[in-house]
Amino acid sequence: MGQTSFIHTGQGVLFAEGVSLEAIANQFGTPTYIYSKNTLIQTFESFKKGLIKTDHLICFAVKANSNIAILNLFAGLGAGFDIVSGGELERVIYAGGNPQKIVFSGVGKTESEIEAALKANILCFNVESRSELLRIQEVAEKMNIKAPISIRVNPDVDAKTHPYISTGLKDNKFGVDFNQALSIYLAAKGMSHIDIKGIDCHIGSQITELKPFVDALDRVLSLVDQLKKNNIQLSHIDIGGGIGICYQDESPPDFEIYIKEILNKIKGLNVKIIFEPGRALVGNAGVLLSKVEYLKQNDIKHFAIIDAAMNDLMRPTLYDAYHEIKVVREHDTKSQSFDVVGPVCESGDFIAKNRSLKLKENDLICIMSAGAYGMSMSSNYNSRGRAAEVMVDQDQLYEIRTREKSSDLFKLEKKLPL
Ligand code: LLP
Repeated sequence: MGQTSFIHTGQGVLFAEGVSLEAIANQFGTPTYIYSKNTLIQTFESFKKGLIKTDHLICFAVKANSNIAILNLFAGLGAGFDIVSGGELERVIYAGGNPQKIVFSGVGKTESEIEAALKANILCFNVESRSELLRIQEVAEKMNIKAPISIRVNPDVDAKTHPYISTGLKDNKFGVDFNQALSIYLAAKGMSHIDIKGIDCHIGSQITELKPFVDALDRVLSLVDQLKKNNIQLSHIDIGGGIGICYQDESPPDFEIYIKEILNKIKGLNVKIIFEPGRALVGNAGVLLSKVEYLKQNDIKHFAIIDAAMNDLMRPTLYDAYHEIKVVREHDTKSQSFDVVGPVCESGDFIAKNRSLKLKENDLICIMSAGAYGMSMSSNYNSRGRAAEVMVDQDQLYEIRTREKSSDLFKLEKKLPL
């Protein structure tokens, strides 16, 4: 996947599909997240392309971008969803997602979340511990239904990504230890209200090489073999998400190559294959539009203070992540090396460091590749209302989330009685 391709230049100004970013700023203000409907559709379709002849399900990882309009669009394209909370369950159902296409991951499912998911009749729980399995059995027994489960195994494979987004190593809290998996399956087999459906793994995020996926699948398949020997037949294998995108100069494997490699490995097994991509489906379908408020300098640094901050886009602060920055209207100011920072009172509040840019005050800038883990990780720190979100469809513009006002922020709070 290339970088954000729906952003292009026309007469010296940036456009999102057919709408100029200046027009978006005029209508909605800044900071504003902008998504491209056509990029979302094309990306989903290109993922699906290699799977047409295979029994499969693409479960979009809701945490990457949970806007209702985006979930609704994916639901319409036939997607399923990977959820990790009761909140995501409600969101997906509200957005028109089919519960029978929902897998429920996460290490800390509460009783009420399990109950809600059973009521909704989801496809499967991805169980992350022996204790969780026992809890699901108990809740299902009370409800007098059978709970569909997979065990999420931790294959102890190095995904070679940022340590905060690696999940498939023994040090990580995710999944059950590979060596305990068989005994947990055997326990599940003996439980009255558990229905074993599949096996699951997810080794991390922003993975740019094929090998970790292949290594993880090899380990999963060796377990599938052992399960067969113990008369446990699975109806699906869920290989998680994690495929990376290009933010700067990374070259993650093409969907086609990635999918071919995986299908080759499961040939002849007669199981449904489930994927849980998040970032790969939305990351390069979104940008964050912001405005330069002030420029300032000292004898060692030039700062550009913009109206977007770490509360809008956490990734640079949290993972030192790189997001390309483009100036919306070109001009021939001299290029300088800038730290692009937000108004939040934290030294960690930056969007880019030492970036060579031509900037003036009041310039609009476009922060690229912000469609995944951007808005969904935003917060109200410093009592900043969350950004607006808009979707472009050629020359049409839709507001899909209104900018938060201060009163939205404190409406759930109460003064103490006098
Ligand atoms: N499935 C499970 C169980 C997951 O935990 C995740 C992501 C995914 C699927 C989707 O992974 P993806 O295809 O998006 O890589 N906030 C970080 C990424 C955290 C990923 C958490 N889990 C970031 O901004 O880079």
